[in-house]
Amino acid sequence: MILKTSKKQGFAALLIAILLVNCNIVAQQELTVDMGKTIAPIQPTMYGIFFEDINFAADGGLYAEMIKNRSFEFTVDPFIGWKQPNSDKHSYNKNSGIASIVKYADNDGNSNYCRVEVNNSTGYELINEGFRGMGIKENEVYNLYVSALNKRGNISKIIFQFIDTNGQVLGETSIATGSANWKDYTTQITATKTEAKAKLKITFEGTGEIDLDMISLFPIDTWKGREKGLRKDLVQLLDAMDPGFLRFPGGCIVEGRTLARRYQWKKTVGPVGNREVLVNRWNTEFSHRLTPDYYQSFGLGFFEYFQLSEDLGAEALPILSCGMACQFNTGELVPMEELDPYVQDAIDLIEFANGSVETPWGKVRSDMGHPELFNLKYIGVGNEQWGPAYIERYKVFADAIKAKYPDMIIVSGSGPFPEGDYFEYGMQELKKLDAKIIDEHYYKSPKWFRDNATRYDSYDRNGPKIFAGEYAAQSVAIASPNNKNNWECAFSEAAFMTGLERNAAVVNLTSYAPLMAHEEGWQWTPDMIWFNNLESYGTANYQVQKLYATHRGTDLIAIKNEGKDLQGKMIYLLLR
Ligand code: AHR
Repeated sequence: MILKTSKKQGFAALLIAILLVNCNIVAQQELTVDMGKTIAPIQPTMYGIFFEDINFAADGGLYAEMIKNRSFEFTVDPFIGWKQPNSDKHSYNKNSGIASIVKYADNDGNSNYCRVEVNNSTGYELINEGFRGMGIKENEVYNLYVSALNKRGNISKIIFQFIDTNGQVLGETSIATGSANWKDYTTQITATKTEAKAKLKITFEGTGEIDLDMISLFPIDTWKGREKGLRKDLVQLLDAMDPGFLRFPGGCIVEGRTLARRYQWKKTVGPVGNREVLVNRWNTEFSHRLTPDYYQSFGLGFFEYFQLSEDLGAEALPILSCGMACQFNTGELVPMEELDPYVQDAIDLIEFANGSVETPWGKVRSDMGHPELFNLKYIGVGNEQWGPAYIERYKVFADAIKAKYPDMIIVSGSGPFPEGDYFEYGMQELKKLDAKIIDEHYYKSPKWFRDNATRYDSYDRNGPKIFAGEYAAQSVAIASPNNKNNWECAFSEAAFMTGLERNAAVVNLTSYAPLMAHEEGWQWTPDMIWFNNLESYGTANYQVQKLYATHRGTDLIAIKNEGKDLQGKMIYLLLR
């Protein structure tokens, strides 16, 4: 082998030697590396994060709230998450008290509150079970918030205690009550012991009736120390990946099983207590993994997603409903003549992120504590839609966004599969519409990933750029509950990713999916990060993603073999 480089590059020579061995290229070939000539830059967005509230990733996960159903809004049963052990009809002490749900006269997103009637102050208990328990750590401090109104009688104190599964107390605090109007209280509890399955027990001093709402509990040790913020260990895992972008809020959660249950970003900003709780679409999606207690509080809403993107130094990539409910579920369609409010949501989102504080939506952002712009550059229209219904809706969105914000980069989608009729049709139509970036999804076998390392070698360099927006090797079958995050999957993804980076001329953004899973509350596996209420860890697949993301090349450099360009033959040099 004779290697000539136009600059002295020992590392380059070594890498080429490795490539030659791997590619079985016979010795005695003359390779020339032109270090001055970039074939394509590798975009800073090359490796990013796909976030969806699936597997308890937001409520019960990244969003550090420890109380499940804090505002008594879960629709099937507003007491999901709450127990009143001494009010059970079989209890000898059943007359100790009872809680009931009352509706507010005016509904600003929060419809219900809880009225507690205490007849016997030593007997009545209201207990929240958390998200499969609450993880508490010895000597750590937790902020507790509650809104209360004394309705009748002489209830003078509310006592809050951490208890373990045997009822042993692991820390307590109390607040003095007495206001006949709604009043917000804050207090703190220090945990006396580490416990993964703690609960919060609430008892009362005095008897009478007291109204309660927004009973909320957070560790003070959150990401960046933000009050009511995000779980620190989980964000640290994301931060360590140095992601180029953060895609949110999904996934199918964008679309909803029905249009009424689609993700509506406007309902996720502003005061947290006014954000309307919505059943999570993954709640009953899989009969083998039912999670009837899975709802979206939207405490982690669009403001928080933008803020997280900023914290991570990642481009924000919001994906919005295009007026189509999930086609694997109802597939409901908004009639074309009724699409305007959906399009307006997209236009308003851009103003929320990038508008001055004088604009209506820029003011909402500013009032939430961020007068500076979020500098949004990308917006996604639809998640995994397919067919003519998508194309005609995409066109309306794209025209409206381009007319008002010509520099906005619009991300479109090619459907759920990386080949076949839906895919071919979507790609062909989106190309005709001059789509800039098309999202492709592949949940395939490890072998598929190895075999497809060359997938993008033949993609048109002048066509739309590709966002490999959701992918993960499935060890058994797509969404099988037996899928594992094993080494074969991780290595196969790594092999495939050589083809993503080598084709940086086409592939601009990539992300593994799904991102996170609670070890007891999950619906879908494999996932990149697993956690319980105390701990979290990155899988082998996470390590692969992190390795690539933190060693991303900057440019693809041409190599010539005895004067001939090797472009397209897997012999690119990644300049790192
Ligand atoms: O990542 C899980 C799901 O897979 C996403 O919500 C959806 O877009 C895809 O089908």
